[in-house]
Amino acid sequence: DKNVEFIPKNFPELKNDRLLRAALGKEVDKVPVWVMRQAGRYLPEFQEVRAKHDFFTVCRTPELACEVTLQPLRRYPHLDASIIFSDILVIPQALGMIVEMHPGVGPVFPSPLQDPSEIDNLKEEGAVDRLLYVGKAITLTRHRIDGKVPLIGFTGAPFTLMGYMIEGGGSKTMSKTKEWLEKYPKDVHKLLSLLTRVIIDYLIMQVESGAQLLQVFESSADHLNREQFTEFSAPYLKDIRSGVKNKISEKNLEQVPMTVFAKGGGPYLDVQTGLGYETVGLDWTVDPEEARKIVGDNITLQGNLDPQDLYKTPEEITKMTIEMVQKFGKKRYIANLGHGITPQTPLESMKAFTEAVHEAL
Ligand code: CP3
Repeated sequence: DKNVEFIPKNFPELKNDRLLRAALGKEVDKVPVWVMRQAGRYLPEFQEVRAKHDFFTVCRTPELACEVTLQPLRRYPHLDASIIFSDILVIPQALGMIVEMHPGVGPVFPSPLQDPSEIDNLKEEGAVDRLLYVGKAITLTRHRIDGKVPLIGFTGAPFTLMGYMIEGGGSKTMSKTKEWLEKYPKDVHKLLSLLTRVIIDYLIMQVESGAQLLQVFESSADHLNREQFTEFSAPYLKDIRSGVKNKISEKNLEQVPMTVFAKGGGPYLDVQTGLGYETVGLDWTVDPEEARKIVGDNITLQGNLDPQDLYKTPEEITKMTIEMVQKFGKKRYIANLGHGITPQTPLESMKAFTEAVHEAL
């Protein structure tokens, strides 16, 4: 087993387990808080690393990935979790596609999938071996965090990854992807199945390396109607959850809780409830009390302040955050934004947000 060297040994004892307790539905002293993209361009210390190193070089160099993962923890002691620095697009790279990060533009695939026949060119075999650098970064970071907070691992979900692979980058309309859904549903399912297999093994490798919770980003769910979400997203999200659970138990590893975050998936919360995830992430369009009614009492909710609200004054942020936390309540709740923090966010906004969560209840 090539992964054996990454099976965690002698990690420092976890001192703050609020996040894991909340994910598992146990009582917490305070509502746990972390922020999607908490390691990122709003931090001057991150910019400094990025000035010297290309984005994917940071992802591929465990020392650098570990350093930027730890940066937000140093600045914001109220954070209750860290998320390993990487990107969802490392999977298409491991399948043999070229992905570049163009400053001010975002990810660019010089040769996106142009035709379903190209699915056969993807290199599924050995894909997870080509992602072992993520595992190394996770193991190093688990040691360096010193048990302060848990470390979250993550992946993109199959539909979201497929969208980037077809569009060749971010897309406002996803028109090419939608054309594939209409014209080539069989090939689409073949590609989504391939991605699902790789994702399951990739997440298992992350757990063997030390990840303590896993989040699956279905960031492009906002493009899907209910029928499409039910056919092209939900079954694969469900297979990922059950696949990870089964492989963890086959390998006699400790189970880890999992979070699904389907951006724009608010109208399909009823579907998401049946996918087997301990935590469901919400964007800011979803009302906390409505969401709770739909998902019931056996699922943890995560979210959902609009990242744009972090451009308000610290006083306003504090007030809005306290109101949000009070609406969700202390039971089965993890505070976060409703999507990633944006690059121009003032540093004091994160302070106001993270502190307000802990003060709220
Ligand atoms: O702190 C963390 O949350 C961990 C790091 C993280 C990054 N990307 C770093 C990053 C995580 C969890 C991601 C996930 C990711 N990547 C998603 C899912 C989450 C979401 O936002 O919906 C998606 C869709 C991607 C793909 C991606 N990567 C895009 C669309 C972009 C460009 C947009 C942007 O913010 O610039 C990236 C680049 C990226 N990923 C940056 C960071 C810090 C900025 C690039 C840079 O430093 O130059």
